[in-house]
Amino acid sequence: MKEWDTFPSITKGKGIWLIDSKGNKIIDAVGSMWCNVWGHSNPQLVKAITNQSKRIQHSSLFNLTNEPVEKLANNLIKISPGMHKVFFSDNGSSAMEIAIKMALQYWKNIGEPNKTQIATVENGYHGDTFGAMSVGYVPEFFEKFKKQLFTTVQFPVPNKYRVPKGFNFSDYQNDCLDKIEKRFSKQDNIAAFIMESGAQMAGGVIIYPKGFQKKIRNICKKYGVLFVLDEIATGFGRLGSMTQYQEQKSIPDIVAYGKMLTGGYLTMAATLANKKIYDSFSGEFNEWKHLFHGHTYTGNPIAASVANENFNMYQKNNLIKKIQSTSKVFTDYHQRISEIDIVGDIRHKGMLMGIELVSDKNKKTPIRTKKSINKVFFEEGKKHGIYFRTLGNIVMLVPPLAITEKELNLLLDRTIKTIEAVRIQII
Ligand SMILES: Cc1ncc(COP(=O)(O)O)c(C=O)c1O
Repeated sequence: MKEWDTFPSITKGKGIWLIDSKGNKIIDAVGSMWCNVWGHSNPQLVKAITNQSKRIQHSSLFNLTNEPVEKLANNLIKISPGMHKVFFSDNGSSAMEIAIKMALQYWKNIGEPNKTQIATVENGYHGDTFGAMSVGYVPEFFEKFKKQLFTTVQFPVPNKYRVPKGFNFSDYQNDCLDKIEKRFSKQDNIAAFIMESGAQMAGGVIIYPKGFQKKIRNICKKYGVLFVLDEIATGFGRLGSMTQYQEQKSIPDIVAYGKMLTGGYLTMAATLANKKIYDSFSGEFNEWKHLFHGHTYTGNPIAASVANENFNMYQKNNLIKKIQSTSKVFTDYHQRISEIDIVGDIRHKGMLMGIELVSDKNKKTPIRTKKSINKVFFEEGKKHGIYFRTLGNIVMLVPPLAITEKELNLLLDRTIKTIEAVRIQII
């Protein structure tokens, strides 16, 4: 895009601050693409990286294992009720590709080869690789590749801000669930239902209503469809609980984690499966039931070490409780933010806030700008000392999870100033 001709070059980071080559300090409101937990340059995490780097930097998980990754697998199983084994990869998209392959092959392994379809929700997002784009089809992002993607069965997600005419929100939720149940009762070739856990992030910060995810899980159980959850962006405290699936009482068959797993310092992801799935892959060699999947950097010991230290720090600092308390600061600002006349809706849970900007509050028309709104907001944010990346007309606040109350107040004050400044520019 021509409008993005130059970029600030980030040379240092400290806590919530990013510092560029010119010495400008900006608050990282994006949490380094939603993955930062403890802020930048945390000494304990850096130490875990340097200590492990001196021992072994990389050793593959093909026929071998290593101590940090074994420990990490145990840590992951401990926080994941119902899960039995861990499959490591090095980014969220791959973790989701693995989840898709596991779900599809499971049915072949147990002798039900007709179960080949995948059900998803509209505007879900699971990454940028082809399988992930197929199951997480956000039209604005992926329309150019539509012909190359495999087809899925898609269902709507209830968005409280945009309830279709003729419905109240409760009816609308029931209608969404009815659509799933009706389809599943007629179609017996659905292998799995895949969705983000707790909320849609890239699809517009849509926080599911209470009970919605659990009800989908129950429908899946009733009709013999595997339930696959993506906790890559929403787990590990982002929405205020270690796993959203526990909060939502919706234990999946397969779950994926990524982003915050290493505190946001190195690249690692994981796909966990329950015993039923795992056992289906452990036949004799000549039965070919094993999963053909593996990446060069799968199970990297440095990434695993920093992830283990990250786990220690969650426990020692009681991070989930801290997030639940700090995130009340967001609530304190609801009123002030909603009074700005280009703010249509505010959606907030845990350490996530989405502010939907509209040009007409009654009609809920998304605001438009000559340049992309992302660019306009980014430039204005920089002037106010914040790094923003908006999702179209939705301003996302996804700060490092351990941000303090004082820092969050500062971020929100500056966010209000930025929205006001953008309002003046466009009106
Ligand atoms: C819910 C969700 N799943 C998967 C991914 C893909 O992760 P990655 O960017 O590490 O490939 C993302 C990335 O934003 C995500 O938000």
